[in-house]
This record gives sequence, C-alpha cells and structure tokens, in this order.
Amino acid sequence: MQIKETDWEYKVCASGRVNIIGEHVDYCGGKVLPAALTLKNTVYCRPNGTNEINIEWTTLPERVTLDINFLGQYKSLKFGNYQAGSAYVWREAGYPLQGCDMLMDCKVPFGSGLSSSAAIEVSTLAALRTLTNTPVSDVQIALLAQKAEREYVGMNCGIMDQYASACGRKDHAMLLDCKTIQCEYIPLELGNYALVIIDCRKPHNLVESKYNERRSETEQALYILQALDSSISCLADVSPETFRKMSPALPGKIRDRAEHVIYECDRVRKAVLAMKEGRILDLGTLLNESHESLSRLYEVTGHELDALAAIAQSHPACIGSRMTGAGFGGCTISLVQKDAVQDFVSYTLSSYTAETGYEAKFYEAGVSDGITVQKL
Ligand code: GLA
Repeated sequence: MQIKETDWEYKVCASGRVNIIGEHVDYCGGKVLPAALTLKNTVYCRPNGTNEINIEWTTLPERVTLDINFLGQYKSLKFGNYQAGSAYVWREAGYPLQGCDMLMDCKVPFGSGLSSSAAIEVSTLAALRTLTNTPVSDVQIALLAQKAEREYVGMNCGIMDQYASACGRKDHAMLLDCKTIQCEYIPLELGNYALVIIDCRKPHNLVESKYNERRSETEQALYILQALDSSISCLADVSPETFRKMSPALPGKIRDRAEHVIYECDRVRKAVLAMKEGRILDLGTLLNESHESLSRLYEVTGHELDALAAIAQSHPACIGSRMTGAGFGGCTISLVQKDAVQDFVSYTLSSYTAETGYEAKFYEAGVSDGITVQKL
C-alpha cells in the first residue's frame, strides 16, 4: 500500500532491538546491553472523533476496529491484539483515550527475535500519548508496553525489549539495569568490526509457554537460594563465587538455569569493560560463551540457532556470534571484520541451508533512536 503522509496528522515510530549480551537475565534483576535498531514500526495516526480505533496495515489486507469502551475483548485477535492491549493498559492507567485511525507500517520482521511486538506496543502507546497530548515519559511508555505484553498478550516478559524500543539512542548501546531501571548509554564503537544480524528463519511456536517456563525455573532457583541467604533479592545479586558454594542445594535443571543467569550477568560486566576499553576481540569471546551457555544450560537455542552460530563462528573474519532475544528461533548477532561482511554473509547463508534446509536471512540495520514523533 502506498502511504500518503499528508492524509495523517502524526508519524510515530518505535524501534526493534538486538541484545548484544545479557540474555534471559532481565527478569532476574540483571543488566542487559541492547541497542535499538533502524528497523521500526511506524504508526501514522489522526483523531477521528468517534469511540473507535481503526487499524490498517501497509503489509496486510486486514482492517480492524476496536471499541475504546470494550478494549478487554480483543485478546484473541490475530492482528490488532498488540494495539488493543496497548490501548487497554493506557486506559487502565487512567490516561485519556479518544477514537483515532492508525496505519501500521512494520519494518521489524515478525517472529525474528528483534522485538516486533515491543515496537508495535511502544509505537501504539506513543501515538496515543501524542494524540491526547498526555505528559507521560518514554520510560513510562516502556513500562506500560511491558504490562500489555504480560497481561494482555500473556508473555511474562522482562523490561528489556520495551525499554530499548522506547528509549534507544542512535549509535549507542544501552546498559540497562533491570533491577533499578537505570540506563547508561555507551557509544557503540566496534572498531574494525560490524554487528551482523542473521535470522535462522526456523518457524517457531510455543515461544511464550517455553519462555514462561524458564522464568518459573529461575524463580524456583531464587526461592531455594533465598532460603539459604535471605539477603539475596534476585539471581543477579549472586556472584559466581557465591554460586559455586550454594549450587549443590539446587536440583539439576534448576541449577543449570541459575548458573546461566549468574554467569551471564558476569559476562555483561566484562563485555561492557571490554567495549569501553576497545577490546573487541574479548567482546567476541564473551558472545561465544553466552551462546554456549544459552544452548547447554538454558536450553533456548535448538538445532538451527546452534548451527547458525557455529557456522558464523567458523568464518575466519568472525570473532564472536550468539543468538539474540528469547531464542527458540529468531536471530544471531555476529561481530565480523568490516571488509569481510559480504563474504561472511554468503558463506554463512549457504552453509546454513546446506546443514538445516532453512534459508537464513541477513538484515541490514543500524543503531537508532527509540521513539520518534513527527507532525505531518
Ligand atoms: C524476550 C523478552 C525479554 C528478555 C529476552 C531474553 O525478548 O521479551 O524481556 O527476557 O526475551 O533476554
């Protein structure tokens, strides 16, 4: 569909994201290191003077109408449920809501682990904020979007995706402390290396239930460790040294999950130091270790993501590769010498297809701001 910008009052964007390191630790109070992408969801919007939100898509033939007085009833919509959930939590929070028309133009690939859902929720909420001129901060928008994802969509997610989508900064990684929701922006300077994003394109399902299962396993680990030391408030509080002493108290898989979280938090700390000191080779090694831990201890990779990461790691210009996001499918990120990116991509795509039968996809994306609003 052609977009005629002059038909609309505002253009509101929010970003997809990659996570450089710190995977499956946000809901354990850990620090994460995401970056917002130039792949975005854009909402073109205008008030319509009714009690309805009309949604159209540039990429779908669908058209959905939501009654703003009955927003609880759209949970099972195939398209429009993220927008309905966002409007629902907005209204529940007591903010003003009025009927409007929205055109969605989503450039974040769905199901790729690059947080298309967060980009849709955050941009929808930012559009409602703009249309009603409500003084709500970007951080509050992120928190509301997380609420929509948890309570409306049913994925018991952490705060990383929505925060990165809302509060990202061009050319910066974000060291987000998920316990305090404080963020330090770090210039994403990778020297001679580029960050390459490749989607394994394995159709994935049951992500939500598997994700929620991992969450409850980490909660079980926390309860057991808290019984031994009541000063522990979250798994991220536990150092690797303390964990080594306490781990015999944890049963098999629960111990593995906790071990991943605790050592991944330690890798984030080391990765940030490496980035700040320009030790990009060390950062690459940490990415490899993170993938290994997500595969072996946290069990969220699967054959395809493991194959994609291993193939990437075997290319001579690649210094590190790992899955990014929730896992069970989706993307890897790799650090690759800038002048060898093309060769790396073609080698990785063809070897991956030979090994798995799936066609992986390379996404060209830069690091960008989170929410942007333009009056048209
Ligand atoms: C998903 C969730 C995030 C985070 C990642 C894993 O993207 O939405 O909150 O838990 O998985 O790091």
